[in-house]
Amino acid sequence: MYKIRKAVIPAAGFGTRFLPETKAMPKEMLPIVDKPTIQYIVEEILASGIEEILIISGHAKRAIEDHFDSSPELESHLEEHGKEALLEEIRKISGIKVHYVRQPYMRGLGDAILCAKDFVDDEPFGVILGDDVVYNGKGEPALHQLIRQYEKTGTTIVGCQMVAEEQVSSYGIIDGKPEMDPDLMKVSDMIEKPSVAKAPSRFAALGRYVITPDIFSILEETKPGKGGEIQLTDALRVLARNGKVYAYNFKGQRYDTGNKLGYLKAVVEFALRREDLGADFRAYLKEIVGEM
Ligand code: G1P
Repeated sequence: MYKIRKAVIPAAGFGTRFLPETKAMPKEMLPIVDKPTIQYIVEEILASGIEEILIISGHAKRAIEDHFDSSPELESHLEEHGKEALLEEIRKISGIKVHYVRQPYMRGLGDAILCAKDFVDDEPFGVILGDDVVYNGKGEPALHQLIRQYEKTGTTIVGCQMVAEEQVSSYGIIDGKPEMDPDLMKVSDMIEKPSVAKAPSRFAALGRYVITPDIFSILEETKPGKGGEIQLTDALRVLARNGKVYAYNFKGQRYDTGNKLGYLKAVVEFALRREDLGADFRAYLKEIVGEM
């Protein structure tokens, strides 16, 4: 069994739900308080013990590249003004080694993952989608929870959680049965964004995967599915039907930052947890609730 050394972040979408903000800025750069969403994702990957990161970028990718690049002018400005803590934080970000590949056409998540083929080569790899932020405090990072399951099964692992019935049509939904552990399911099938009537469960894939490299040859053959896009879920279901996919009900508070309400919840809750802001912000929220 391979050690998981590489992770892929697909970040090529148009972010149409956040236009006009996303016209010149990828949605993964939307800040949760003062940190772009993609940095939370990168930090989860690093905290899970993975150091090689590939970002699949699309239009307006410059902002992401600049964010993880070194910034000598900013650094000397912070140094001159004695802003040591900020300087350290900025240096930490530019010290992260990130690779980039461009997805030339927006053909769907499956196609985006296929763009990682050369980077990944013949190894299993982690994937985190830019829309799904998971808060775990000092607990085990969600991706690391999946890696531990991979170490048991040696197969692809899909991170999932239960969602409300009215939400099943927004996600890839899992059909499976618990095995070995009540939170680990052997997946027999997966359906991309089914109607409530067709959903086999309420377990939704929530943006975290450990994927074995046999996915690439399947993706090469995968035809456009839901929404006319090449769906990762459709390739995963081929693996699942061969008994090679498990799903893990990971622990953590997950935010769907890909929709406006989910994004606002993330900003508010992350702000409330901050030592420097939490108390004042809580008092302010109490004050305005009922007034507006
Ligand atoms: C993608 C996947 C879907 C998954 C979801 C998680 O959908 O296709 O299977 O459940 O991410 O956020 P998207 O939200 O990109 O439409």
